[in-house]
Amino acid sequence: MKFFIDTANIDQIREAQALGILDGVTTNPSLMAKEGITGATNIINHYKAICEVVDGDVSAEVIATDFEGMIKEGEELAALNPQIVVKLPMIADGIKACKYFSDKGIKTNVTLVFSAGQALLAAKAGATYVSPFIGRLDDVSTDGLHLISEIRLIYDNYGFETQILAASVRHTMHIIDCAKLGSDVMTGPLSSIKGLLKHPLTDIGLAKFLEDYKKGN
Ligand code: E4P
Repeated sequence: MKFFIDTANIDQIREAQALGILDGVTTNPSLMAKEGITGATNIINHYKAICEVVDGDVSAEVIATDFEGMIKEGEELAALNPQIVVKLPMIADGIKACKYFSDKGIKTNVTLVFSAGQALLAAKAGATYVSPFIGRLDDVSTDGLHLISEIRLIYDNYGFETQILAASVRHTMHIIDCAKLGSDVMTGPLSSIKGLLKHPLTDIGLAKFLEDYKKGN
């Protein structure tokens, strides 16, 4: 399972990269705004900075919602660095743009996916990644994890190579549940990744080992 971090915060990206387990980064316009990164030039420069910190794929979202606009923006983003994955919204023009980019060998991430039907369309369009937003489904009393299992079944039935990128991951158990369901990738906040480290018995056990070591010395 690939681990992506879902943030535009460079310090957090650096911290996750230093752990040695990071496979990529996802961003979106809201995450950029949260870090105070606004305006096309600053956003482009920030993508370049992120690519310097991580080794893996970096999703960069288009703002245009029409086919021509998405192509123009996506080509500019893809030209920044081979690590860039063009992130496209799950709308008709986004699917057309996804097909265009996948035919050209440019990596894509179809975002804002909330149903199995949408995920099927993204795979048909040759998406590299599909991003079902599990946390936002949970927020409206709908089982986000169930969507992951539906997409897994459909993709396996037909051998689609599109990778399921569980997005809108909110906490550590989401990661574990997505791993059990066979999600190819998850993207979540640094806190959800660091949560995987924690167990009180580890801390208690380590303290005891160190205490016993000191007794013998
Ligand atoms: C995914 O690519 C999105 O950036 C993200 O996971 C959305 O998460 P949120 O629902 O916590 O905003």
